[in-house]
Parts: sequence; structure tokens; C-alpha cells
Amino acid sequence: MTEAVTKSLTVDRPHVPADPANPPVVVFRDVTKTFTQPDGGGTFTAIERISFTIDDLPGKGEFVSMLGPSGCGKSTILRILAGLKPSFPATSGTVLVKGKPVLGPGPERGMVFQSYSSLPCYTVLQNVELGLRLKGVPRGDREEIARHWIQRVRLGGNEHKYPHELSGGMQQRVAIARTLAVKPKIILMDEPFGALDRMTRWEMQDLIVDLWQNVEATVFLITHDIPEAVHLGDRVYIFTPSPGRLLEEIYIGPPTGPAAEVQRTADFTALANEISRKVEQAG
Ligand SMILES: Nc1ncnc2c1ncn2[C@@H]1O[C@H](COP(=O)(O)OP(=O)(O)O)[C@@H](O)[C@H]1O
Ligand SMILES: [Mg+2]
Repeated sequence: MTEAVTKSLTVDRPHVPADPANPPVVVFRDVTKTFTQPDGGGTFTAIERISFTIDDLPGKGEFVSMLGPSGCGKSTILRILAGLKPSFPATSGTVLVKGKPVLGPGPERGMVFQSYSSLPCYTVLQNVELGLRLKGVPRGDREEIARHWIQRVRLGGNEHKYPHELSGGMQQRVAIARTLAVKPKIILMDEPFGALDRMTRWEMQDLIVDLWQNVEATVFLITHDIPEAVHLGDRVYIFTPSPGRLLEEIYIGPPTGPAAEVQRTADFTALANEISRKVEQAG
């Protein structure tokens, strides 16, 4: 059921007092990444002095949408947070997850990419079990947890199919199930629905909203789709063109109803247009 509320630019971010016993989920402080070009080609600054804090809200994670022109460094930011080379480590600055420096990949941070990242020679069940296996979950428990998440992403009955037997939307649900099964504290999504058509995208957005209500993870979502960013994001981050700097952080609150309904309302369209203008002004 759609509530008669809409997101707006006037929503205040929840205030979380500093508490050493409950450090923020993520802190970026003056994070810069400079790539050195091969064979003496000089250096290239991908992101410059990025700073932000995502507090640990009791019983809920925040959803952060990241918008900015292609090449502005969005993937670089997520990969630094994920601990993935060659973006990781940052050239300078501080990256903390729950108060501790990021030293490499870890099970508390899960990544979902745009390209379907399932292993082609593994079934759906084996793909979803993979993350659990890497985390060291015992074999007996793995299958039960994997089957649960396959149901949750509405892929029940497809456990023994291979990725090539699935549609793009289904393959992306496998990737989401695999990530969520490990129960990461932070989920990093790099244009996860970029290759999907509009209706499938809306279905995926509703699925994400539904799953998130129980997962309590903090989500970073890179997307080129401004309505998607506005619909899903508690906050929207707007980055400048290369070298990427964080131009604006906008708190707009959680999703207010099913994607296909909300995104057709005049209020939503007005807000999306306003944010679209800010993105255009950034570049
Ligand atoms: N390994 C690398 N070596 C050199 N340059 C890189 C490397 N990875 C990314 N870049 C450059 O950094 C910039 C930011 O890239 P990226 O983070 O992928 O941007 P976005 O995700 O916003 O499109 C781009 O100009 C890209 O070419
Ligand atoms: Mg990218």
C-alpha cells in the first residue's frame, strides 16, 4: 500500500551523537586516489579529498545513492571501501569501517556488480553457497541458508539451473542472494541494474526495499538512473566530474511505496528533476 508521503529535500538527517562504543559504519576522511600511468605516463587523480560519515543507526542501515558523470570515480570509491585493487588502497586519507582501517576485502562488506558475476559452471544453489563457503560456514548449514535466500529473491525452483539458463534480472537476483546470504554489514552495488529494462528494474527496486527491511545493512548504490537513486536512497551523494569530489550530500528519507507507483507521481518527478538539475550543475 502506498502511503501519502513523498520524499523531499527538507527531510532532516537523523542525529546520532558521537559514541565511542558505537563507531560509524563508514568514515571517509580526505580520501584521494592517484593512479600512476604505466611507462612514465605521469599520474592521474581519480578522486580528491572525499569525506563523509555514515553513522550506525540503531536497528537500521542507511541507503546511500551515488550519482555523478561517468569517470568521476564512483567505482573507485566503492572499490577502496571493498578493499579491491587496484583502487585499494587509497593514496592518502583515512577509510574506517566500524572504527577500524580497511586492510583488504572482508565478509562484512559484500559487492554486487553490474555484469552478472555468477560463475557459469556453478548452479544457482552453488553460486549462492559460494560466499558462505568462503566465509567458512559449515557445509550442512550452507545449503539451508542458500535455499532460504534463493526463496527470498523469488528464485525458488531454479536451484539447479545454470546462469546461462536465467534472464538478466534472475542472474542479478542470484548475485543479490549470494551477497545477502553472508549477512554483510555493508553492501556495495555498482550499477547493479544498469543492464535491465525499466519494468525489471522496478521489480528489482521493490525486491531490494523488501529485503532491506530485515537485513539492516548499509548500502551504497552507484546508478545512472536518477529516479532509482532518489527512490531507493535515504541519501543521495552527487560527485563532480573527474577528479571526483563530493559536491553535495542530500538526505531525503526512505522509499515511500512500490517503485512503479511512487515514480509515476508528480511529487516524485519534481524531486527527481530537482536532483537531476543539481547533477547537471555539478558538471
Ligand atoms: N587502474 C586504473 N589505472 C588508471 N586509471 C584508472 C584505474 N581505474 C580507474 N581509473 C580512472 O579513474 C577514473 C575514475 O574511474 P571510475 O572510478 O571507474 O569512475 P566511475 O565509476 O565514476 O565511472 C577514470 O578516469 C578511470 O579511467
Ligand atoms: Mg563505475
